[in-house]
Amino acid sequence: MQILVTGATGFVGRSLVPALLEAGYDVRALTRDRSTGRARLDDRVEVVEGDVLEPESLAGVFADVDLAYYLVHSLGAGAEFEAKDREAAANFADAASEAGVERVIYLGGLGETGTDLSPHLKSRQEVETYLAEGDYELTTFRAAIIVGAGSESFEMVRQLVTRLPVMITPRWVRTPSQPIAIRDVIEYMVQAIEVPETAGRTLEIGGPEILSYEEMMRRTAAALGRRLYILPVPVLTPKLSVYWIDLVTNPPPSISHPLIEGLRNPVVVTDHTAEELLDVELTPFDEAVERAVANARDE
Ligand SMILES: NC(=O)c1ccc[n+]([C@@H]2O[C@H](COP(=O)([O-])OP(=O)(O)OC[C@H]3O[C@@H](n4cnc5c(N)ncnc54)[C@H](OP(=O)(O)O)[C@@H]3O)[C@@H](O)[C@H]2O)c1
Repeated sequence: MQILVTGATGFVGRSLVPALLEAGYDVRALTRDRSTGRARLDDRVEVVEGDVLEPESLAGVFADVDLAYYLVHSLGAGAEFEAKDREAAANFADAASEAGVERVIYLGGLGETGTDLSPHLKSRQEVETYLAEGDYELTTFRAAIIVGAGSESFEMVRQLVTRLPVMITPRWVRTPSQPIAIRDVIEYMVQAIEVPETAGRTLEIGGPEILSYEEMMRRTAAALGRRLYILPVPVLTPKLSVYWIDLVTNPPPSISHPLIEGLRNPVVVTDHTAEELLDVELTPFDEAVERAVANARDE
């Protein structure tokens, strides 16, 4: 089976590609710049250049592809990210449909539809509706924070607890979330290929524990051998906490701000169909953090 992975050079794509090769699939990887992307990919991968924001660059990219993964986002593009993500998803859907791709698997974000979702989480769900316009069967996985080395969202947690022994934090530290290990996400996304019941569905995935961000930070600190003091202060507005997190962590504001805004939204699995259809042994949070920290040291 010929598989196309868009976003192959990203955090999720870099783990997905080896798992697909291991499972015996032929993998083609899309990147906007072969000279930077290629270095990170296995020799068995066919690397093609293209930009989902430039439809003409996608000519031939989908040739003979049976199934394509959509792992692209435009966070980092600044205020325009939602419009760019709509355009990217529409271009992808058109090109994949024209080439006769049968299935598409997209990884988006958890968060209850219809609530006061942050622009980032809303945009991730909007992409789902644009991709659903295509002439193929779409499977959407929705996940909260993914724990792994190189995950922008997890990096923010790790850097916060590494650099600050005492934190004055706003109310969002109490928001419930369901972090999931990168290897479990990959396992879900690879198994879905061979389980036809996953086609045409939106599947929510999460780790074995629901944790507040406070608990997540405490346990990440413990995995790093640190003690963390958290003083929740209700008067600290989300806007102020954005500036405060910027001072301490590396991701550029164009990435960190939309992610921080999303911290107010509970991101918890409410539909358990994924666990019924697919057989993934979920990694405990502490183990996922230990792996992430060890892998970050190796990189
Ligand atoms: N990380 C998390 O904690 C998390 C949690 C839940 C859901 N997700 C979802 O998982 C998916 C992948 O996220 P990630 O963390 O792996 O992102 P990432 O590390 O930032 O990677 C983004 C990828 O998108 C590609 N890309 C960006 N713009 C493109 C364009 N115009 N044309 C073609 N490719 C483009 C980049 O490829 P090149 O630069 O090589 O072109 C890169 O490989 C996203 O849909 C995200 O919402 C992530």
